[in-house]
Amino acid sequence: MNSKQLIKSLEDLNNRQKPELYDVNNFKVWDKLGKQFTGDIWNNGEYIWKIECYSQLIKDLQPSVIFETGFNIGRSSCMFLNQSNKLVNNPVKFYSNDIHKRSLTNVKLLQNEFDNFEFLLGDSKILLPPYLKENNLKIDFALVDGDHSYEGARVDCLSFQPHINEGGIIFVDDWWIKDVAQGALDARWDGWTIYQVPKYERGAVVFLKDGGNGEFKRFNTISTVGLFNS
Ligand SMILES: C[S@@+](CC[C@H](N)C(=O)[O-])C[C@H]1O[C@@H](n2cnc3c(N)ncnc32)[C@H](O)[C@@H]1O
Repeated sequence: MNSKQLIKSLEDLNNRQKPELYDVNNFKVWDKLGKQFTGDIWNNGEYIWKIECYSQLIKDLQPSVIFETGFNIGRSSCMFLNQSNKLVNNPVKFYSNDIHKRSLTNVKLLQNEFDNFEFLLGDSKILLPPYLKENNLKIDFALVDGDHSYEGARVDCLSFQPHINEGGIIFVDDWWIKDVAQGALDARWDGWTIYQVPKYERGAVVFLKDGGNGEFKRFNTISTVGLFNS
């Protein structure tokens, strides 16, 4: 997508009064995932806009390859797999990764239902660069939601950058965590434009690979108040 299309996508989201692109009751496997180990995009229903935001973006981007760091119990994976089937017209390959073996039970549950799901076990900082290179992966939508340290966010962004297709995005969740925001911003963003995501609970930022000069475009919105003071 180009910057005009991304802005339209974010504006559509921002103008909506309530979510309308998803119903978790219709997601296959969702009910079997159980209790989360740490925070996730759903937080037992406390977050209503995160899934709406991903849904809007995949509907408008029409990605062929989606790759996330941070599987946890698989709420975001489950959402991407279900919503890709519903909103994307082409076949989608979905990759996820987590450092903990505790994720493996739910990985199996999702793989039993979805044959387009690949999982990588290990530290994304170490594992991603050789994996992406050896498999010559080109990604349309990358989600950074794994290691929430400064170095974790920075290295995940750096690892994804060369493998994102022109017009593709890197989405960074949990922008409210200072280390995540600073780490992500300290990756090199020449050739990209950066957009604040509206509505998204606790903040998120999208990096669009559009040949831009690393400019940061703020969105005048509600739920990310206090996150962009500078
Ligand atoms: C916030 S949770 C992910 C939530 C998930 N995306 C969701 O919304 O359902 C973060 C996950 O990242 C994993 N993680 C932490 N450090 C990691 C690393 N270096 N490499 C890969 N995964 C990591 C944790 O084990 C945890 O499950």
